[in-house]
Amino acid sequence: MNRFFAILILSMALTGAADQGAIDIFEQRIMPIFRSPNPSSCVQCHLSAVDLKDYILPSSDETFASLREQGLIDIKHPGDSKILTLINMGQKDYGKGAELIHAETRKAEYEAFAAWITAGANDPKLRILPAPKQAAGPKKADTIIRHSRMDRVLDSFTRNVWSQRMRCFPCHTPHEIDDADPKHKLAWERMNKMEADLGVGFAGRMKIFKDTPEATLNYLLRDSGRKREDRLPLINLKTPTDSLLVLKPTAPLPKKIADKQFEEPSYLKPITHMGGIKMHPDDFSYKAFVAWIEDYARVVSDRYQTAEDLPADNWYFTSHMLLMRDAPVDWPASSRVQFLVHGWNDHRKAWAENPIAFTQGTLNPRRSIFGTLFLLRSPQTEKEVQWESDNPTLPPGRYLIKAYIDRVGILTDKPAAILGKESFYGQGLLDARWEKLFKNAEKFTGDLFKTNNKPSE
Ligand code: HEC
Ligand code: HEC
Repeated sequence: MNRFFAILILSMALTGAADQGAIDIFEQRIMPIFRSPNPSSCVQCHLSAVDLKDYILPSSDETFASLREQGLIDIKHPGDSKILTLINMGQKDYGKGAELIHAETRKAEYEAFAAWITAGANDPKLRILPAPKQAAGPKKADTIIRHSRMDRVLDSFTRNVWSQRMRCFPCHTPHEIDDADPKHKLAWERMNKMEADLGVGFAGRMKIFKDTPEATLNYLLRDSGRKREDRLPLINLKTPTDSLLVLKPTAPLPKKIADKQFEEPSYLKPITHMGGIKMHPDDFSYKAFVAWIEDYARVVSDRYQTAEDLPADNWYFTSHMLLMRDAPVDWPASSRVQFLVHGWNDHRKAWAENPIAFTQGTLNPRRSIFGTLFLLRSPQTEKEVQWESDNPTLPPGRYLIKAYIDRVGILTDKPAAILGKESFYGQGLLDARWEKLFKNAEKFTGDLFKTNNKPSE
């Protein structure tokens, strides 16, 4: 036989065999991943926005060419392919035990992709096949992928919900109880008795805040996954404001039936709470709880489409408080008010355009408003505060306070909104020490916004 001809046949046979290999592996091991109704192992950390399925196109050739073209497959060193690194990310454990839950799925994915990439890398045709127009990979922008990561969700939970737990002390915060403090101990004994009185079905339910933010979040999510007719979920993904986590502490005591005796508390609307009213709809804690639940609900249902849809998620709880008395007479009863705090921009010799902090509250019948500050982290405010600490502080000094009133019910539709120009009422200067504890709240009266409507800068 002609030698040239023989080599040609041999190489055709080899190509054919290798090609067959990649296609077979793809059909037998990759397509089942694509068709599976279950999420891939990526869900251990990515709650939505990206999944291993996104990297699979209907044909082996197209998938290979696309991943190769994007640098996700390394044909020289198949074992170093970036897609394999992504699958192996899960070996780093962010949540206790999460790594183990997904270990089996991850192993199957890894082995399937490794075998398929190795077969494909040996195929001369696949090494040069032009990439298809439609690229294999996530459809969402990196900013959305980042926003939908579990570690970001947990960090946000820590800043917005966990940070508020002392408002539920001591009843729901067993780990904050100091046994050496007789007052704490007594309160806790009373709570345990309450829990016992509520019956066996209630065992453990008082202990909402666990020893870490992570354990608390896991508890809330696990509990909310159970569908029940007789009670709303702790976290309501359909209607965030109908979460027991915010309905209970804003609800009154059940009806009194005798001395120290009450009707059964209710877990459906209208809710009653054996702890009584512990926060108000639209106060700063309520706002932070709802903002977190709304964002979480959008993340898990993959509702963010573009970067503009994403909330800022930059609130950091402090111990600095504002207390305004004698609200301006033209503020309607029960007005929902936001105070935005602006620092001085030394560089521009002007008040900073972006606020550094805010709080929110409802005008009470005594015409005062109280709120604890959340700092607003942004590139503009990055240098003004030490953000690492879990209780950041503002430097003392002169600040511009802007008051905003929600006259048209913006917060009814969007409880997490920061009010804008159309709600602006007035502004004034405050020399603030920014100390801690309620007795050291920065106090001022409604006159602040009259006399200083236009501060000289
Ligand atoms: C153990 C947690 C974990 C698992 C599991 C995980 N990732 Fe990631 N992923 C991360 C982290 C953390 C980052 C950001 C850090 C980095 O860029 O290295 C990231 C970044 C990414 C990015 C880049 C987006 C950006 O932020 O720029 C993509 C795409 C991605 N992962 C896809 C996947 C896919 C696909 C899987 C499943 C096959 C997966 N990841 C599994 C934690 C994980
Ligand atoms: C003075 C004690 C007390 C305080 C403070 C308190 N609660 Fe409660 N809470 C109770 C009692 C007692 C129950 C059980 C009876 C009931 O469901 O009303 C309860 C029940 C709950 C439940 C239902 C738990 C379940 O799984 O059934 C939630 C949610 C809740 N509280 C949230 C809060 C939040 C959030 C705070 C703080 C902002 C808070 N509570 C402050 C006493 C308190």
